[in-house]
Amino acid sequence: MGIEYLEREGLFRLAAGNVEYVIGIADGKYVGHVYFGKRMGDNRCGCLMRTEEAPFVPSKNLREKCSFADMFPAEYSSWGVGDYRDSCLNVRSEEGFRGCELHYEGYRILEGKPKLPGLPSVFCGEGEAGAGMTLELDCRDKVLGLKVVLRYSVFADSEAVVRSARLVNEGDKPLYLERALSACMDMDMEEGDLLTLAGSWARERHMVRRPLAFGKQMVSSFRGESGHQDHPFLAVMERGAGQDQGEVWAMHFVYSGNFVAEAQVSQFGSVRLLMGINPEGFEWVLKPGEVFVMPEVVCVYSDEGLGKMSRIFHDLYRGHLIRSPYLHRKRPILINNWEATYFDFDTEKLLEIAREAKKRGIEMLVMDDGWFGDRNIDEGSLGDWEVNEKKLPGGLLHLVEQVKALGLDFGIWFEPEMVSPDSKLYRTRPDWAIHIPGREPVQSRAQYVLDLSRPEVVDYVYESVARILRSAPISYVKWDMNRQMTDVGSAFLGREHQGELFHRYVLGVYELQERLMKEFPELLLENCASGGARFDPGMLYYSPQIWCSDDTDAVERLAIQEGTALLYPLSTMGAHVSACPNHIVGRVTPFQTRGHVAMAGTFGYELDITKLSEEEKLQIEEQVKMYHRFQPLVREGDYYRIASWRENHRYDCWQVVAKDKGEALMTYVQVLAEPNWHSRRLRLKGLDPEAEYRLEEVGTCQEMAGKAMAGQVHKGAFLMYGGLLLPRMEGDFRSIMIRFVRV
Ligand code: GLA
Repeated sequence: MGIEYLEREGLFRLAAGNVEYVIGIADGKYVGHVYFGKRMGDNRCGCLMRTEEAPFVPSKNLREKCSFADMFPAEYSSWGVGDYRDSCLNVRSEEGFRGCELHYEGYRILEGKPKLPGLPSVFCGEGEAGAGMTLELDCRDKVLGLKVVLRYSVFADSEAVVRSARLVNEGDKPLYLERALSACMDMDMEEGDLLTLAGSWARERHMVRRPLAFGKQMVSSFRGESGHQDHPFLAVMERGAGQDQGEVWAMHFVYSGNFVAEAQVSQFGSVRLLMGINPEGFEWVLKPGEVFVMPEVVCVYSDEGLGKMSRIFHDLYRGHLIRSPYLHRKRPILINNWEATYFDFDTEKLLEIAREAKKRGIEMLVMDDGWFGDRNIDEGSLGDWEVNEKKLPGGLLHLVEQVKALGLDFGIWFEPEMVSPDSKLYRTRPDWAIHIPGREPVQSRAQYVLDLSRPEVVDYVYESVARILRSAPISYVKWDMNRQMTDVGSAFLGREHQGELFHRYVLGVYELQERLMKEFPELLLENCASGGARFDPGMLYYSPQIWCSDDTDAVERLAIQEGTALLYPLSTMGAHVSACPNHIVGRVTPFQTRGHVAMAGTFGYELDITKLSEEEKLQIEEQVKMYHRFQPLVREGDYYRIASWRENHRYDCWQVVAKDKGEALMTYVQVLAEPNWHSRRLRLKGLDPEAEYRLEEVGTCQEMAGKAMAGQVHKGAFLMYGGLLLPRMEGDFRSIMIRFVRV
């Protein structure tokens, strides 16, 4: 790892593992993107900016400056002065003029990596000298009095490059930011593919690959959260790139609100990647002396396809983003009562579940929605965070103490950012809801969003949660957020500042979770938003795990978890075994398969255990044992995708390999049975080719019992290049997990 300035060449070279990121200063003032890829180590690479080709640089050919601006590969493009592609920055002056031109002024190379105030940010290992380095480039628009600082960080143990930017108004008049995106990267690419993640409620983060085409292709959100629908991620890939081969360039946004991720193919066969806060509905007033800090973008290059890209993201997030003390700890196996009871529960019912759960080895009871106010359906009481003593006679402490006495920990659900029209809070403070005066706000799940741009609302929300947490020994919180924003107006922000509400709201969420982690450092926090609508790197900074999706069907989960694991370590994916027929899709899958699929995440149960058959309860006992055995490997290991049901429509397979390659775990799901076939040959990945591995069958379909593979020993090379012959399985939705142990 290192950052160097090559003065003669006017180049900054950031090295991270086998990757380098090179920035050039063209014509003494324009900050250009030179290269992001495999390490070259050639000081003459600045020619890639093409500043010696027609139409030359402005100092030599001022009359064609516009052509220069429109083809120059910018590191941070600005609007209105010759670059007609979409840009990062658009600023309106007090007089109403738009246009901005940034000139390079100087640089700093810093040890480590500074935090971003008020925002989640990637960090260096605490106190580890040499763990990371940061380059800051100062640029200025003299006319506006605007300073722009571009920041790039690299780490000793990662090939990722983390970027952000901050704006400082050094003039004496306010500036109006109409676009303030975090990063831009211009690359030569005549043809390639664009990869994004798309979905919907109960169908989050499905991978979507399409050819890059002339013009703009983008995913975005202006829902007030990152959303189920689009994900703040994009990657461009070589046409032939796949799981293990080909070049991939990816960007992922460390932010939880409105975003845009765009690929724009230009007239000159280059592609511009842009990422940042969505300019739609955004305007920020930057008064003299004020600073605006943009969220970070994680940039990853892989020369070995998507698999390596995933592993770079996973290691960066585990090593440099998730702060929770639970990161490397075993998470408790929990049972959540949502799908078991919905709103229809009381202390006795919860204790009944807890007693049976304890018998089978489950470690925590989580009480979901419906314990407060007068909430018996999803139509009221949000905002009134007082325990409903009709359901919980004797109060919360009484319940928690009894659960603890059984030997289980206790967790609780909140949806603190919301208010129901039918609530005491709304009746007393309607102005605390986000709304446009004179317009009846749009309801969604019969609720409104609280105005977190307002400090007193943030304090109220914080105290509502903290007061409950102080009242009983609660180990876990599920922090939910069940609607997207509309009627984006604030009774608190003045006329000029309404365009700031979306972003100020997100800053409010971050402040709340920061305060929570400070006062309750041992709390296990799981974020959630109608399932996985706020599964993003921003939230991971506060919680080590996020509920992946309300869809707990084992088959639906295959695509959801594949798309999620494309970027996120398995230790972050909230996954539970639920009852069948599944409540979302009505599908019936074997209990074992549900367990195997949930084992690729944080693992837990979401069902009424008291209603299960004895056989199913015995399976829970088995799964609990498996979880204890495999949890460290799943949490800490390297993830490999072997096959995708999304692509082949028949089966899914993934693998986790210990960092020292001493152990691996493969999960195979036969989604649909086929006629006329024998065994299936699966080629493993990531093993030590020279080592010998013993197969331990850990979860077998009954039909396969006679064909047990346990005890076989094979060389890693055989398993990876030759392959494992997996016996035929009868029926749909069957699964097997196999553990490989180095002998
Ligand atoms: C959201 C969550 C669910 C559950 C309900 C409760 O939909 O994703 O898991 O907590 O809210 O209302």
